[in-house]
Amino acid sequence: MRCSQFSNWFGIGITILLLSTQTLTAQQESNLTPQPVSQPGWYLGRQIARTMSYHGADWLVRGSREREEQPQKIMDALQVKPGQQVCDYGCGNGFYTLRLAQLVGPKGKVYAVDIQQEMLDILATRYEPRGIRNIHPVLATDKDPQLPAGKLDLLLMVDVYHELSYPSEVLRAIHKNLKPNGTIALVEYREEDPTVPIKPLHKMSQPQALKELTANGFKLVRQFDGLPWQHVFFFARDDSPRLSVQLIPWNPEATEE
Ligand SMILES: C[S@@+](CC[C@H](N)C(=O)[O-])C[C@H]1O[C@@H](n2cnc3c(N)ncnc32)[C@H](O)[C@@H]1O
Repeated sequence: MRCSQFSNWFGIGITILLLSTQTLTAQQESNLTPQPVSQPGWYLGRQIARTMSYHGADWLVRGSREREEQPQKIMDALQVKPGQQVCDYGCGNGFYTLRLAQLVGPKGKVYAVDIQQEMLDILATRYEPRGIRNIHPVLATDKDPQLPAGKLDLLLMVDVYHELSYPSEVLRAIHKNLKPNGTIALVEYREEDPTVPIKPLHKMSQPQALKELTANGFKLVRQFDGLPWQHVFFFARDDSPRLSVQLIPWNPEATEE
């Protein structure tokens, strides 16, 4: 009798010990692993947009885009230098990839990343005939950019972030892909401006962008508000020597940084 009581208590003790160890491990892991999308299709209170299909790729090179986005202003704001290694993340058919390739020059490299092989195939039809050799296409998964660690001076995301199915996982990976001084340039249509003729799910507000990037190990280091329709944020790794700055709320009258 005594012996069976002892073995019962012994069994309960072992079970409690195992459970508490598992809880600790789960808590430790939650500090290390990316925060999962809280519920399918939502992240930190924002509904995630659907991925734009390659069937709509022509829209990305529409004639009115120069006027609507003023891409040269974006390029100037990036301050890219010859020889740098940069990434056009969610490159589509390369509206910005070809411009970046010109800026980094023959000694630099542009990783052109997308989850749709068809987009990369269309991109190739644009750079191969021109003999451009510094563009490196990369097929990503929806959680993993498939990029080398610690190599990037800059990662540009134009009209992409709001449609990442797993924003936290992708941001945590990019954190490792950037050099310590590297930056993400995040370009998104302004949710604050009702005159921007883009569907609400495809726009982002300043506070939302800040909330999501800071939740994943980044700090705001610069912003540019001189575009007609889009916010431009520059984020660095939170362990970067770059100084963080306060977000300046968008002002419809502002045209420059
Ligand atoms: C609206 S398009 C923008 C394309 C390009 N940045 C431009 O401005 O012309 C969004 C692109 O992001 C890509 N994309 C979506 N989710 C992605 C992910 N998790 N990783 C890489 N690319 C992704 C889509 O396949 C699509 O080509």
